[in-house]
Amino acid sequence: MAEPGVRKRKNARGAKSQSAKNGRPTGHQTGTKRDHGMLKVVAGAVLVSLVFFVYQNYDYVYALIRAWRERPIYNFDAASKRELDFSADIPKRDAVVAAFKHAWLAYERDAMGDDEYHPIGHSGTNLTSAGGIGYTVVDSIDTMLLMGLDKEYERARKWVAEDLSFERDGDFNTFETTIRVLGGLLSAFHLTKDMIYIERAKDLADRMMPAFDTPTGLPLSMVNLAKRIGVADKDNRGLVSTAEVSTLQLELKYLTMLTDEETYWEKAETVMKVIKNAKIASGLSSIFLNANDGKYSISPIRLGSRGDSYYEYLLKQYIQTNHTEPIYRTMYEDAMAAVTTHLIRRSENEELIYTQEIIPERNRNGQITWRMIPKQDHLVCFFGGSLMLGAVTTGATGPSVSIPPRASELTAAGRRDWANGVGLVQTCMETYKTATGLSPEIVHFRMPNDNVQTQSKHDWYIKGAEPGKTPYDARYILRPETVESLFIAWRLTGDPQYREWGWGIFEAIEKHCRIESGGYASVLNVDVLPVELEDKMETFLMSETLKYLYLLFSDDTVLPLSKYVFNTEAHPFPIFTPTLQTGFS
Ligand SMILES: *[C@@H]1O[C@H](CO)[C@@H](O)[C@H](O)[C@H]1NC(C)=O
Ligand SMILES: *[C@@H]1O[C@H](CO)[C@@H](O)[C@H](O)[C@H]1NC(C)=O
Repeated sequence: MAEPGVRKRKNARGAKSQSAKNGRPTGHQTGTKRDHGMLKVVAGAVLVSLVFFVYQNYDYVYALIRAWRERPIYNFDAASKRELDFSADIPKRDAVVAAFKHAWLAYERDAMGDDEYHPIGHSGTNLTSAGGIGYTVVDSIDTMLLMGLDKEYERARKWVAEDLSFERDGDFNTFETTIRVLGGLLSAFHLTKDMIYIERAKDLADRMMPAFDTPTGLPLSMVNLAKRIGVADKDNRGLVSTAEVSTLQLELKYLTMLTDEETYWEKAETVMKVIKNAKIASGLSSIFLNANDGKYSISPIRLGSRGDSYYEYLLKQYIQTNHTEPIYRTMYEDAMAAVTTHLIRRSENEELIYTQEIIPERNRNGQITWRMIPKQDHLVCFFGGSLMLGAVTTGATGPSVSIPPRASELTAAGRRDWANGVGLVQTCMETYKTATGLSPEIVHFRMPNDNVQTQSKHDWYIKGAEPGKTPYDARYILRPETVESLFIAWRLTGDPQYREWGWGIFEAIEKHCRIESGGYASVLNVDVLPVELEDKMETFLMSETLKYLYLLFSDDTVLPLSKYVFNTEAHPFPIFTPTLQTGFS
C-alpha cells in the first residue's frame, strides 16, 4: 500500500516543477524573483506579527494548545451505555451505621450535651464559657433518624426538650451556629414534624437576627445569644466573610416557610442583593465584604475557606425554591463563567483539574497586583459534585436530564461544568493517594518551572512536608467534602466507581481515625505511619461525613436530589414552591 502513495507524491512534486519550468519563459524570471521577494516580506511580517501575538497572548495561546492536546475529561456517549443499579449495598451501609454508633455512643458516654468532643481524653468542651448550645447533639439528630437509630434518637430528643438552652451570654459564630444548630433543628423538624424543633429553631433565629442590624444588612460574624446583639470579628477589622454571610439563606428561607414569618426571608435576601450589587468587573468574588458599605474588600479570591459555600448556596437557593427565582440562576451562571476562566486549571503532567487561588499583593509603588497560587483546600472538594449538580440544573436544555446526562441534554456551559466537576472529583480522589489513604487539608499543584523540591510523585504535593516535619497542611480532620461529591456524582451517574472510592475513604477512616474505646480522631499527617492523632472529633463527622457515606450506599429513594437540597452541613431540606417572590432582580 505504501508504494502508490509514495509514487503519487513524487508525481505531484514532479508535475509541479515541470510546469514551472515549462510554463514560464525566461522573461518572467525577474518578475518571479520579485514576487518571491514580496512573498518573503509578507511571510516575514505575518511571522513577526504571529510571534508578537503569541508573545502578547501567551497564556491564551498556551491554553488553546493544551486544550487541543489534552485528553477529554469526560465521554458522554460511553457513560450513557452503562446499566443502572441504585439498590442499596446493605453490608457497606450497615458498616457506616456501626461507625456512627461507635462515634455517638462514645460522645454520649463522655460528653453528652457539650458542644465538642475529645475522644482520646474522653471529655467534652463548650464553644464559650457561657455553656453549650447543642452543637454536637443537634448536628447529629437527622443522621440518627435516617439511619433508623430510634433509641439513640429518643435520648437526643429528650436532651433537646429538657436541656437545650440558647440563653448563653457568649459570642457565637453567626454562620456556624446557623448551619449546624439552626440547620439541624430544621431538618429534624422536617423528618419528624415534632413542633419542639420549630420552637427551638425560632428561639435561636430570633436571638440571631440582631446580627443583621448593620448599615447594609450584611450580618456581623458573631452574635451574643443572651444579649441578642451582633458582634464584629476583631481579627478581621470588622469585615465579614463572603461565604459566611451568603450561607444562611437556605436555613432562614425554610424557617419562613415553616413559620410564615417573613422577616427571616427578607434578611437572607437582602444579603444576596448587597452581594449582587457589589459585583466586580472580573465577575469574581473575594472572600471579605465590608458590612458598612457593602463592597468587596481587596482580599483573596478562592473556592476554599470563606469563599466555598457562597457558590454552593447560589445554586442551592435556585434549587430550594423549585427554580422560581431566576436571579440565583443568573448569579450562579455568571459566577461559574468567571470561576472557569480565572480559577479552574489543569495540572501539567497528570492533567488534573484543580482550582487555584488569587491573592492581592501590594507592589513597591503601593499598587495592587494579583498573584496566582496553585493551592487547593480540601474544602474545595465539595465543588466537584456541586458543578455536576449545577450542570444538570442551570445547564440543562430541557426540564429533565438522563442519568447520566447525554451531551444533547446540556448547554455548552452545562457540558463544561459537568466535565470540570467529574474532573475535580477525580483530582480530589488523587489527593487521597497518601500513606494513610486520607487526603490532606491543603494541597499545592506543580507549575511549570516552579523549582519546588518535593518527594511527591504526583502533580500535587503537601507544602512543607519533609521527613520529621508535620505541616498544618498535612492533617485530615474527618472532613466530608469529597464523600459529599461522591454521593452527588453517584446519584447523577450511577457509576459504581463513586461507591468504590467512598468505600476506600471509609476504610481509611476506620483504619486510622477510629479510637478503640469509642469515637474518631483527626490525623495530624496523612503521610506518616503509624498515625499521630489529634484529640478532636469534629461535629461534621456525624452530621456530614457518615451521613453522605450512608446515603452513598443506600438506595436512591432515600432523600432523592429531585426533592431535597442539603445545607452546607448536610442537613436535608425539602424543595418547595414559595408563596413569596424574590424582591430583587
Ligand atoms: C457545657 O455547657 C453545659 C450547659 O451549660 C454544661 O452543663 C456543661 O457542663 C458544659 N461542659 C463543659 C465541659 O464545661
Ligand atoms: C416544582 O415545580 C414543578 C413545575 O412547576 C411542579 O410540577 C412541582 O410540583 C414543584 N415541586 C414542588 C416541590 O413544589
